[in-house]
Parts: sequence; C-alpha cells; structure tokens
Amino acid sequence: MKIEISSLLPAVVATILLSPGLCAQPAPARSGSASTPATRQGPATQQAPARRQAPNMQQAPATPPALYLGTAWYPEQWPESRWDADLALMEAAHIRFVRVGEFAWSSLEPSEGHYDFDWLDRAIRDAQRHHIAVVIGTPSAAPPAWLTSKYPETLRIKKDGQADQHGNRQQFNWADPKYRELIYAFDQKEAARFGHDPDVIGWQIGNEYSRVSYGPIAKAQFQNWLKERYHTLDNLNARWTTAYWSQTYNDWSQIPIETTYGNPGLLLSWMRFVSDTWRSYQKNQINALRPNIDSRQFITTNMMGFFPGYDHYVVAQDLDLASWDDYVGTGQLNPVNNGAADDLTRGFLRKNFWVMETQPGFVNWSKDNNSLDKGGVRAMAWHNIGHGADAVSYWQWRSDLNGQEEYHGTLLGADGTPVPLYSEVAQIGKEFATAGPALAGTSVHSQVAILHTYDSFWAINWQRHNQAFDPIANMVAYYGAIRSVVHSVDIVNASLPLADLSQYKLLVAPALNLITDQQARNLIAYVRDGGHLVLTQRSGMKNIDNGLWTERQPGPLVSLLGGRVEQYYALDTTIPVSGVWGSGPTKVWADLLSTSSPDTHVLMRYGKTPLGWLDGQPAAITRRVGNGSITYIGADLEGDTLANAAKWMVADAGIEPTFGALPPGVDLYIRSDAHHEVWILINFGDQPETVNLPSAFENVLDGGNTHAVTLKRLDVVLLQRPKTGSGDSH
Ligand code: GAL
Repeated sequence: MKIEISSLLPAVVATILLSPGLCAQPAPARSGSASTPATRQGPATQQAPARRQAPNMQQAPATPPALYLGTAWYPEQWPESRWDADLALMEAAHIRFVRVGEFAWSSLEPSEGHYDFDWLDRAIRDAQRHHIAVVIGTPSAAPPAWLTSKYPETLRIKKDGQADQHGNRQQFNWADPKYRELIYAFDQKEAARFGHDPDVIGWQIGNEYSRVSYGPIAKAQFQNWLKERYHTLDNLNARWTTAYWSQTYNDWSQIPIETTYGNPGLLLSWMRFVSDTWRSYQKNQINALRPNIDSRQFITTNMMGFFPGYDHYVVAQDLDLASWDDYVGTGQLNPVNNGAADDLTRGFLRKNFWVMETQPGFVNWSKDNNSLDKGGVRAMAWHNIGHGADAVSYWQWRSDLNGQEEYHGTLLGADGTPVPLYSEVAQIGKEFATAGPALAGTSVHSQVAILHTYDSFWAINWQRHNQAFDPIANMVAYYGAIRSVVHSVDIVNASLPLADLSQYKLLVAPALNLITDQQARNLIAYVRDGGHLVLTQRSGMKNIDNGLWTERQPGPLVSLLGGRVEQYYALDTTIPVSGVWGSGPTKVWADLLSTSSPDTHVLMRYGKTPLGWLDGQPAAITRRVGNGSITYIGADLEGDTLANAAKWMVADAGIEPTFGALPPGVDLYIRSDAHHEVWILINFGDQPETVNLPSAFENVLDGGNTHAVTLKRLDVVLLQRPKTGSGDSH
C-alpha cells in the first residue's frame, strides 16, 4: 500500500514516509493535568526553550506568500514525535499555514487557571522550521468538561428548555456573562504568549458561530435589548401591531422568544438581538486579544456562506479579515452557487477573504458524502482564488482516530501517509507559489452589485407564501445571469452608505422585501445621481419592523418608480410572460404591476391563463430618472428571459463587458490591480472548450504568450496582461 501511494508522490514525500515516527500512535488525552504527557518529546517538566533562544530558529519569511495554502492541524491529538513528519509532508505539499488550537481548550487549560501553552509553542516552532505559519483559533467553540461541570450556567438552553451537555461542541451559551469572563481570561493568556510570535499570522475567534440559547439569561437580555431600541412599550406595541391577537405587552418581561410563527416584528427583533449578541460575544474576545497582539496579526472568524443564523454584516464589522468554510457536501461544485457564497463573503468587509476550511475531496456530514472528481479540488481552489480568496485551507490534515468525524476527507489517512488527493493538493500548492507574484495585491472589481440583507432574507423565509420561493436561490439566479454577462459581480449590504453604493453603475436588488427609510433614501439618491436600480418581485413590502409599508410595493420607492404592485400572487400554475426580453414562463410568484407616471414604461406583460387576474397586465416596468433609472421586475424570469433581462440591465447601465459569452461550462474570473489583470479560466463542463482571447496574454503557470486556450473538463488556466483600462475590471 505504501509503495503504491509513494509511486504517486514526489520523491521528497517518499523520503518523509520512511522517517521514524511515521506511524506513531496518538497522544493520550491530556485531561486533568497541566503537565506535558510523557509521550511528547522531553520530560514532563521540561520547558520549551524561550523562542528567541531557540538554536535552529529561522525567521518567518519576510514576504508572506500572496496565496496561502493551509490545513487544519490538531497537534494535541498526536505525540510530538510525530509532528515533524506531518510538517515535512505539509511543506512538501507547499502548505504555508496551519490553523491550530480552535478545539484545544482542554489541552491548553487542563484545569481552571492552569495553562499549558508550552506544547503549542513547540508546535509553532516545529512549523516554523518547515516555513509554515500559524493561525491560532481561540477555543471558545469547545469548552472543557471541567468548565461546564463547574459552571453549568454557561451551557446553552435548547429550544425544548433543556440544557445542552458536554460530549459534542458548541454547547456554550453565547450570551452568558460567566462564559465570556472565562474565555476572556483564557484568550488574554494565549494572546500574551503568542501575540508577538513572528510565526503567528492571525487569530480565528471560535468556530462557526451557530447555536444560540433560549433560556432565561438570553431572554432577559433580549427584553433589555428591546427596551433600549423601542424605549416604551407603547412604541413597541404600535410598531408590532400587537393589538392583533391581543398580543399587547404591559411589561417588558412578558415578551417571549419566538423563532418560527411569532409576530413578524418579534421574529426580526430576535434575529437582530442574536446578531448583536454574536457581535458582543466576539468583541469580548477581540478585546482580550487586540491589546496583547501585534497589529500585523489579523483577527477573523470562520463563517459559513449563506448560513442564516445571524446578520454577517453586523458581526464582520469588527474583524480584520472575512473568512468562510466552503463545503460542497453532496455532488460536485456548482460554480454559480459557490461563487455567490464567495462573493457574499468578499462583500462582508469588501475586500479579499480567506477560505479557512474546505473539503479534501469529501465530507462526512452530508446526505451522500461523495468525493469531488479528480481535479475538482484543484478547480475549486482556483475558483475561490478567482472570486477574491487569498488563502485556501483543507479541513483537515489527518483523520482523527476517534471522534465524530472519522469518515471525513483528509490529506493523510489514519496511518499517517498521504491519501491519493495529497498529490492534487501539492500541485495546488506549487501553483499558488508560481502564481502568487501575479496575483499579489489584486482583487475583484465590479461595476455591478447585488443588494442583500439578512432582514429581507429572514422576512421572506418566515412568510414564504409559496414554499417554492427560496430567497437565496432567487438571488443567486439573478447573480448567475448577470455574472455570465459581466464576469464580476459584488454582493453587498443594501445598508451601505450612499458613497459606497455610488461606485456601482448597476444595483440589482432581488426580492429586497424589507427596505428601511435610510436604505430607501440612499437608493433614491443613488438613482437621482445617475445610478441604475433594478428591484425584483417582493421588494419594498416591509418596513424596518417587518411590518407592511402602506404605499404597497415597493413602499418608499413607489413614487420614484411611478408605479407599484397592485397585487402579488403565489402561483400554482405557469403564466406566460413576454415583452422586450422575449417570451417565457413565470412560475412560483407574480407581482401584478401598474404605472402611475407617463414616463414609466412597461417592459413585459403577463399572458392569458385561467387565473385571469394577470391577463395582459404589466410584469416589468421601468422609468428613467435623469441619467439613472429604476426598474421593477414582477415576474419570475428564467432561461432566456432572465438572460435577456441581465443583458438589458447591463446595457441600460452603460456597462461594456470586458469579454463576451463564454463556452458552456467555462467560468472566467478577473482579478486586477492598477497595472495588470489576471484571468482565471476553468472548465466545469464535460466537453473540451476553446476560448479565443481578446488580446495576447501571458500564461502564468506554463509561461509563453497566447491568444487562445483549450480547456478539458476541470482544467484551469491562468493568464495575465497589462491593464487595458476599459470594461468591467478596473
Ligand atoms: C466545519 C467545522 C470543522 C469540521 C468540518 C467538517 O463545519 O468548522 O471543525 O467539523 O466542518 O466538514
């Protein structure tokens, strides 16, 4: 078996496989003692050499790589005698950083107040010898057993009223002051130890914020949160229309937690409270870290794409870097869906981001845990880079020998030798090193932005009205259609200040159901200033309290549009729709539009059906406003009508795409700086395809100049040329 695998691997890896310690057994559990277990190198009492005195210490490379390849590494699970073999295998695969420690609280503070950072220091020193930098995860997602048994109030209360328990992870209460105090003390100590370590490049707070608590602590905080925002119960009762069903509150303590079928104002307030509480939970840890760490060390947390559990714009604002965990789960990568999640993440801080975790082939938690096809992991990595990632990191390095994730994909098997995918990842690492200089300092620049808010997403999800209306799928359909025309699209918070929105020629708001006064003011000013705004069905129905605007849709934008929605229809039948974007079906949803201004024009109309109400009625309308325009699309568009609408919007906004249509299955990503642009082409289709380029490009990976490239399935080509100064990349 070893010979078979070695034959697939570079010679350097084969050498590592023969070195001692390869098949070392895992370290025993470290519970209950602050001392170093005997299985780790050196006697229990031996202190790690002080960093600056370490004999073979090499400085971390002065220039960090432009593209980081990484992996999640759990040294606490393995004897120290094994670490060097692991790190040598990582180095041979061009892995340039490891993320460590995010679940290691019980190993780092084995009993209350007794810290053991020495082993982590030694792990960092070992990594450094292999030119591997370190991101430390604070361990707040996995409190140790001593903590939860001594402070049971720190356990979260589940929806059924029962306390969570030890044995899994994420069992803490994110609102609990004692938990915050304990993790603050821990983080301070960890930051004091590693905050100036030249090989520690950043910090990840916790891991995938998700589970919240529904017990008395959270409830009392929620009621106070409401008091601070609504000031009086009369105000809250009026804005939530609590006279309905006798919901009127006479005391703040009467207000419950509701998560599914509550008053829409109550539901939305709870999610805003949840988001603010994740922010303060995170801020508590940032406050422990920041004064103790170098400013060059970033602070991030690993988010989860379109995960709906909190408002990511709220939580991201205190971070230096946005990062996310990109898992396909079942099937193969869908580049449009996944690209939207990348672009969403890039939009949190409106700059490049990291993929902090991704699947080494397959996961263990999905419906069917199939592997990505050979070449698919490499294609996915470059797809992430194309969307603005500067790092891609595999979860995880080696199979845990026990624990909930034994089946998960890894780069090394349980025996400590590479699995077949290792070679593909090594190739990615080599290519990251080669392409790094071309991509350094580049980012994605777009003239089109999709407007997104969590408020609208939640508002629709609580009241879908037609279960087939999925707000994310709806948004991604527009994103994909527009992206295939312009090749670069941002996804940004609709609450951005006007100055930030104004950089875009075209703003598209798919199902922006909830529009606040402030957002409306900005969007009106944007259009009046020459911007092009497209709203789609269900937009502008709700106000800041998730209540109904009295203007009907699109609420505060009705008079700018010179038209409105007369009625909405959840469809159980297909309605034909036709007009300037051709003819096609509308399914799921139809907004019946009317015009009230002579210069508001009808673009599309519904056809005749037994439903009757929509026959011949406007399905899309538009109005020019000075040099700008506002358009409302009431129909569900798909296929050709959607593609034509996308082309129309782009042309109407005066955007000249950098490049025309791509062959089916081929995706193009453009990153640029002031001087040059890098094009990444990937063929996700089944057939080989040739792309004729608009000018001569230099092939970044293979060298040479070219005017055309042919890509087989899952092929990746990187090209660069000096900046032309036109088109949608600037
Ligand atoms: C992530 C998590 C990792 C690991 C991984 C498996 O959600 O952050 O710790 O569990 O999933 O896919």
